[in-house]
Amino acid sequence: MTELADLFKTLSHGVYVIGVSDGEHHNAFTAAWVMQVSFNPPLLAISINPSNYSYQLLQAGKICSVNVLTQQQYAAAEHFGSGGIKDKMAGYDWLSAETGAPILANSLAYFDCRLSHVCDAGDHKLAICQVIAAAKLQDGKPLLYSQTGDMDKSDGLYGKGE
Ligand SMILES: Cc1cc2nc3c(=O)[nH]c(=O)nc-3n(C[C@H](O)[C@H](O)[C@H](O)COP(=O)(O)O)c2cc1C
Repeated sequence: MTELADLFKTLSHGVYVIGVSDGEHHNAFTAAWVMQVSFNPPLLAISINPSNYSYQLLQAGKICSVNVLTQQQYAAAEHFGSGGIKDKMAGYDWLSAETGAPILANSLAYFDCRLSHVCDAGDHKLAICQVIAAAKLQDGKPLLYSQTGDMDKSDGLYGKGE
């Protein structure tokens, strides 16, 4: 029988770097569980593990950016998807958009957002974010979650599906 972990990988996701800020404190993390959930107002939902450091900053600062990674940015997905990195933002170029959230300068496109509200979602929280501004930054094809293998080490995280 096909494992639940394999079946979930048949769902299509992109790979994004989510930038968060609270005053002088900035951080960013890799996320695949991101989707548009409304036309008017334009809303994105981001599923975020509340134990991520970025969750604290999102809750406090109430702003974030969703940066679309290109197929050439596998290394960035790995970097921002890892914990325990000191000065995680260093070595990457950042822009500041309307809300003040950090924008990854060489991403394919970005969405600059304000946190609307947070819902419970099992072991994650669903951050519903209103898009304030968005722009394309370069040409390219988006990196897909299915191309990252077990980079997020999620294969061992599933229960029995009950
Ligand atoms: C490809 C990939 C996809 C990921 N998707 C998510 C996600 O959708 N939501 C989430 O909370 N964490 C996701 N993660 C895990 C976080 O990026 C990871 O826990 C990160 O270290 C959190 O950073 P922080 O503690 O500095 O905020 C993903 C990691 C990778 C590599």
